[in-house]
Amino acid sequence: MRVITFGTFDLFHIGHLNILRRAKELGNHLIVGVSTDALNFSKKSYYPVYNEEDRLQIVQAIQYVDEAFYEESLEKKRDYIIQHAADILVMGDDWQGKFDFVSDVCKVVYLPRTEGISTSGLRKDHL
Ligand code: CTP
Repeated sequence: MRVITFGTFDLFHIGHLNILRRAKELGNHLIVGVSTDALNFSKKSYYPVYNEEDRLQIVQAIQYVDEAFYEESLEKKRDYIIQHAADILVMGDDWQGKFDFVSDVCKVVYLPRTEGISTSGLRKDHL
């Protein structure tokens, strides 16, 4: 089974590691879409701390990850899923229900988030 997931993965933390490990456990090939700096800016009006090249390299180096690519647009989710022949889309449950619209092309699984840590919390508390 080919599993795909998406995220910014800025200030890579234990919540990121946990979701990638659990996503990989659902199949045998994990593909990760890492959102570009421009996509983040368009969503949040600020840039990630780590640039997209560094974030992609960090995600690619995680042992659970088989391939990683840049996610340039939220609207292209369906195209990315089809291009990468993914069987399962995994998202954190902060997105619960929001990706059910692709359930005609793959199974959609929402995994519980790791409690008590987030990139925005780290930015607020430590930067
Ligand atoms: N994630 C998780 N547990 C956390 C934080 C993130 O499972 N504590 C998951 C998200 O649900 C998502 C993926 O990791 O599927 C990438 O999340 P991302 O948005 O890059 O990280 P966050 O820490 O949620 O960043 P922010 O605070 O900016 O939303």
